[in-house]
Amino acid sequence: MSTLITSGTAEVLAALQQYREDDPPALTLPPSAYTSPELWEMERERIFNRCWYLVAHVGQLATAGDYVAVSIAGEPVVVTRAKDDVLHAMSPICRHRLMPLVEPGAGRTDAFTCQYHLWKYGLDGRLRGAPYMGGNKQFEPKDCRLPQFAVAEWNGLVFVNLDANADPIGAHLDLAAHQFTNYRLNEMVLVDSWSYEWQANWKSVMENGHENYHVIGLHRETLEPFMPGGSDMFVEQYSPWVLHARIPFAASVVPETLTLNEVQQSNGMVLLTFPSSAFIGASDQIVWFSFLPSAIDRVQVIGGVLTMPELVGVSEAVTRTQQAVTAMINDEDRLGLEAVQRGVSSRFAERGHLSPKEQPGVLAFYRNLAHAMLGDEPNGR
Ligand code: FES
Ligand SMILES: [Fe+2]
Repeated sequence: MSTLITSGTAEVLAALQQYREDDPPALTLPPSAYTSPELWEMERERIFNRCWYLVAHVGQLATAGDYVAVSIAGEPVVVTRAKDDVLHAMSPICRHRLMPLVEPGAGRTDAFTCQYHLWKYGLDGRLRGAPYMGGNKQFEPKDCRLPQFAVAEWNGLVFVNLDANADPIGAHLDLAAHQFTNYRLNEMVLVDSWSYEWQANWKSVMENGHENYHVIGLHRETLEPFMPGGSDMFVEQYSPWVLHARIPFAASVVPETLTLNEVQQSNGMVLLTFPSSAFIGASDQIVWFSFLPSAIDRVQVIGGVLTMPELVGVSEAVTRTQQAVTAMINDEDRLGLEAVQRGVSSRFAERGHLSPKEQPGVLAFYRNLAHAMLGDEPNGR
């Protein structure tokens, strides 16, 4: 960490401390939280390099050779399904002269061959060949392997953590699992997926993801009729990494295939994983999102729609969800959050007051942010 902390960063750290108190201020973060390069570096050290990110559905990694490549705060990551069926997450940077082996995206391959001098790596990251290296006595090909990250699969959702020794996320997710058993997540199949870049800070995006209040504005035509923004969101915290929220529907929805209880039929059932991944169960579908930070003012938005296999290609509701989500992420949330990113840089920007409609989720996000940035709370919550 830098020894010289600028006043903007000091103000953000002091504000974070306030959110851990029993009576936190109903205020947004100071504007420099979204613009300070110094804070971004602190976040890299304390959040991006240590936390779990949802990066794929297992349907994208079903067959040996399948891979998904992403970037977390500029750090390339590739997740592969190896020949022995094991998932690996690793750094796809060639150990020779550091050329990236693969660009963000998804595909299928037998091996990763570096285009620079053709060093070749297996799906587990071990070096399989390096032309004309025999004369270098210090070079041990059998010790050459791509650095490994932590990877976890939970009900078909694939998470990675750049810290290979990270505390496993599964036990935290399990604490909220009973809320989602009826969705039969591990039987669901992927019917749509996306990857888009937004010009916004990841924390603005997550504030937006922790409240339903903005539906009255940004989604007044699309979501407001069935998920009104004036309703009260219920929030339940299971661990500093896992938060469950319920967003009331205007009328309850009876699913086509699943057996959902009354609460599940009348709410969008959300599970948020700190820092920036989430899924929402709504009737027969689950929509997952992950907001991977790429720079202080950019996030990569990835995600997909899951449903029961018997509904694929036949359910109008699933098609409607795909269209609504696409409209939302392309036009509504994106445009709103990109505009906010322009606003936070204003010389006249200040902390804003939060409505009671948005406080439960946004203040829970801030509390978890404080936990990640400042360490364990004195009372060991
Ligand atoms: S940098 Fe990859 S083979 Fe040389
Ligand atoms: Fe939204």
